[in-house]
Amino acid sequence: MRLLFALVLLTIVACATASPPQPTPARAPDSTTVTKYRNPSQEDNDLYVQRVAEWVGTRKNEPAAQVFKNIQIEWLKGIPAERLLLIMNQGYSRALGVSCTHCHVEQDFASDAKRPKRAAREMAVMHRGVNDQLRQMQHLESPAGDRSINCFTCHRGAINPNQVDQ
Ligand code: HEC
Ligand code: HEC
Repeated sequence: MRLLFALVLLTIVACATASPPQPTPARAPDSTTVTKYRNPSQEDNDLYVQRVAEWVGTRKNEPAAQVFKNIQIEWLKGIPAERLLLIMNQGYSRALGVSCTHCHVEQDFASDAKRPKRAAREMAVMHRGVNDQLRQMQHLESPAGDRSINCFTCHRGAINPNQVDQ
């Protein structure tokens, strides 16, 4: 009986050690970085989102350009209003590690008065252009549809990516 037990135990140990090492993924999925980095302004930003979401109310699935006053980026016009807020919070703000008010006038989110908001529009166009080029590249292993960068790829939680602590 004791021998049988030892045999079973040995088999388990053998199996455990024989299992192949986990391959390291070629491309780190975005989800790993999401859990590692936290925006110091996250709580404030969640409150702003909550406030806007309450104002949006039942129109949350309507196109952003119909719900909001000043959507100029073509590919953001048709997305649901609710999704625009997600991009603002988890995309733009988190990438730069800033509060919504780094780009927005607190009492009027439609205003373009703040320079960083206008810069963000230009950045959005650049990031789109890079993604278009990535998908046209001929010598990458990854399927064209899987290739993309986002604001976080460069910014890593900093307003100026060239000043990120490495
Ligand atoms: C890095 C700059 C930046 C940050 C940070 C940012 N936004 Fe924006 N936001 C923009 C830009 C740019 C637009 C306009 C997009 C366009 O023209 O299509 C916009 C548009 C909006 C709009 C639509 C306003 C209207 O009526 O036209 C809302 C609402 C909004 N943002 C909410 C937020 C919230 C809430 C946060 C924080 C969680 C936030 N934003 C953080 C840049 C930013
Ligand atoms: C290819 C790298 C790269 C990507 C991708 C990128 N940025 Fe930038 N961004 C930069 C660099 C570099 C600067 C600093 C430019 C300077 O002032 O010299 C910058 C500056 C900015 C600024 C100005 C900040 C300020 O307060 O002056 C904003 C706003 C901004 N980025 C928003 C965004 C947003 C939003 C996205 C995603 C849609 C994005 N960036 C994607 C590289 C990038």
